[in-house]
Amino acid sequence: MDNFTVLGIETSCDETAAAVVRGMPPGPGEILSNIVFSQTEAHAPYGGVVPEIASRAHLEILDGVIERALADANKNLADMDAIAATAGPGLIGGVMVGLTTAKALALAAGKPLIAVNHLAGHALTARLTDGVAFPYLLLLVSGGHCQLLVVEGADKFRLYGSTMDDAAGEAFDKTAKLLGLPYPGGPAVEAAAAQGNARRYPLPRPLLGRSATEGNSLAFSFSGLKTAVRQLVQNGAVDVNDAAASFQAAVIDILRDRCDSALSRFLREFPDLEKPTLVVAGGVAANFAIGSALTVLAEDRNIRIHIPPPKYCTDNAAMIGWAGLERLAAGASDPIGIGPRARWPLDS
Ligand code: KG4
Ligand code: ZN
Repeated sequence: MDNFTVLGIETSCDETAAAVVRGMPPGPGEILSNIVFSQTEAHAPYGGVVPEIASRAHLEILDGVIERALADANKNLADMDAIAATAGPGLIGGVMVGLTTAKALALAAGKPLIAVNHLAGHALTARLTDGVAFPYLLLLVSGGHCQLLVVEGADKFRLYGSTMDDAAGEAFDKTAKLLGLPYPGGPAVEAAAAQGNARRYPLPRPLLGRSATEGNSLAFSFSGLKTAVRQLVQNGAVDVNDAAASFQAAVIDILRDRCDSALSRFLREFPDLEKPTLVVAGGVAANFAIGSALTVLAEDRNIRIHIPPPKYCTDNAAMIGWAGLERLAAGASDPIGIGPRARWPLDS
């Protein structure tokens, strides 16, 4: 077989998504369709994702989203080699909707079921879009996660360090709320920051500059930064754009410093790689200023960097289809009785 075609389903947070991808590892693959229905409007009045609203919305629209993904790809269920769905981590109600639907389709069409780790979807996107070879260093920055990992295989991840408190995207979302910016916070803070003066407010950079010899030197921490933004707001008249810019500059410094240390470790562990590669993935990787800063770091250190296009950084089903395709190509599939997992670390 020279390539596989897989239907991917994603329902772990507030996007209801389905996509059809085709290809073979190491990629790049073809994205035949990519439907993402964002529930942003339903959650906006609450300033964050409400799990009950999310699972109900997934239930109501997922069938239609899958039908459109197949139609856009000009395919039927019978053309699929497997059905892949996010089985965790995420909001359990939503994950159940997607996984159960995938099981029903797999059973009805007599196709293998692949239960995909949502984080593996983010982690492997750079192979779908750019065919990046293993191993690579991965900065995974999303609403729920902030970690540095070595990706050695489609099912082989080794953790270098992760956040001790908030995730990077969470810090953006909370800062947006504090500054009175709309939900979702990341894009709103980025837009405000583009109009602001990043030097206006000195904000802390927790754990910055910790030497690589100290324990857990690749950990992240964002809660001190968030607290500093809160104090800034409580102290009275704050310029929203300048505060957003100052916050984003602090996040950039933290991410750049951790990536720099992680790169040193990665290069020590893999001294013979012809072109060592840093991949940035997850919703926060859609941030242009962060991407630019990390691109400069990569150039300074003479390594390659891959940041997928923004629409494949934020939650989507093409990445889930691709992660499923990688496991299918490796001969894996999952039993129909497999359950959803609210928590599911990548290195487990
Ligand atoms: O990967 P993702 O879509 O969902 C999760 O798996 O969490 O990431 C969502 C997170 C949110 O916290 C959102 O605010 C953040 O990614 N995000 C951004 C940007 N776009 C999305 N953060 C900073 N700048 C952006 N442009
Ligand atoms: Zn995600």
